[in-house]
Amino acid sequence: MRQLFFLLLVFSNTILKPNQQLKKLQHLLGLIATAASKTFSPIKSVSIILLITVFMNIQTIKAQKATASLKETFKKDFLIGTAINTQQVEEKDTAVNRLILQQFNAVTPENIMKAEIIEPSWNNFNFDLADKLVAYAQKNKIKVNAHNLIWHSQLPAFMHHMQSADSVKQYFVHHITTVAKRYDGKVYSWDVVNEALNEDGSLRKSIFLDKLGDEYIAEAFRLAQKASPNSKLYYNDYNIEQPKKRAGAIALIKKIKAAGVRIDGVGIQGHWRADNVPMNDIEESIKEFSALGIEVMFTELDLGVLHNPWDNATADVSASAKGDSTMNPYANGLPDSVEQIQSKAYADLFKLFLKYKKNVSRVTFWGVNDGQSWLNNWPIRGRTNYPLLFDRNFQQKPAFDSVIATKQ
Ligand code: XIL
Repeated sequence: MRQLFFLLLVFSNTILKPNQQLKKLQHLLGLIATAASKTFSPIKSVSIILLITVFMNIQTIKAQKATASLKETFKKDFLIGTAINTQQVEEKDTAVNRLILQQFNAVTPENIMKAEIIEPSWNNFNFDLADKLVAYAQKNKIKVNAHNLIWHSQLPAFMHHMQSADSVKQYFVHHITTVAKRYDGKVYSWDVVNEALNEDGSLRKSIFLDKLGDEYIAEAFRLAQKASPNSKLYYNDYNIEQPKKRAGAIALIKKIKAAGVRIDGVGIQGHWRADNVPMNDIEESIKEFSALGIEVMFTELDLGVLHNPWDNATADVSASAKGDSTMNPYANGLPDSVEQIQSKAYADLFKLFLKYKKNVSRVTFWGVNDGQSWLNNWPIRGRTNYPLLFDRNFQQKPAFDSVIATKQ
């Protein structure tokens, strides 16, 4: 009889692939089972062992779920990135850091390399946080996509008073050259120019367009190429999957190439609403952008669940609105029905990314968990949004499982 129990135990152990903690638990339960076999009748003992086996199976499934990793799952397909904030760069919270290292092999600084932080006053650079980020990434073998060199937003205050074209030109050359040179080869890639287009595909009005003219974009890439020959160079924007804006982006990329300047890829930000992901436009964009011979990336992916007071989708950081409680319907939790819509949307997207894995080189989420997402404060402050794959306690959401399942 005892041999039968022993065989049952061995069997239950071999069908499980426990981690170390589970091994200890199994050992303990094994002892209990052996003791049971001595104390109780054979039928009772078999029942106890079966119950123990079921219990251990449940624990194993939980453990396997806990260790599923995005970066491992998509290792052969594309990089998996996240945007990280100052706290995370400074490794303040070990639990978060463990999760980042377990799940992601690429990071984009959410804010710390933007002009207002890295050059807060004229020719006064603050590289502390960016240096830390680069050291952190080197230590952990993570790729950094440096965001960004030229953008109309989050500019230092001194830029707002700048009048003469000469001063803007001086800033432009000096800023790009200084920052790009310092991190040449230390960062994997640069978002050289961010959000230079309007929805109709024309060039967005900005201090750079006003003072430097149409050529400023190719010029930014030329300067970045010279200062940072060992890092990749990307153009990054939102809504460039939409036909008109996409046409503008294609024209812009062709112009950079025609000027004999290097551009390695294009980043589609991917701030979409979970119930309104433009799948066909995204597919068309992957095809059209890769036909230009460049990488396609999804660089700021988040699928929010809240509606905005206007109809058209935008990710314009300057857009803002006042909200009332009707604009914040899920303050106390997300209904299952919405959670399911989001899970399906994420799964559909990842299936598409996998279909074009030869063209898609990176998928980066804009933040690690729901609680940290910019969408809790944009375009309305103080809402409760749920756009990412990890919840406010850093637990995997159904959307995480559905993304992992696209590979199973
Ligand atoms: C956002 C950050 O997430 C916020 O913390 C910040 O207050 C504003 O900018 N497009 C971009 C990102 O390229 O840099 C923006 O990030 C989101 C939209």
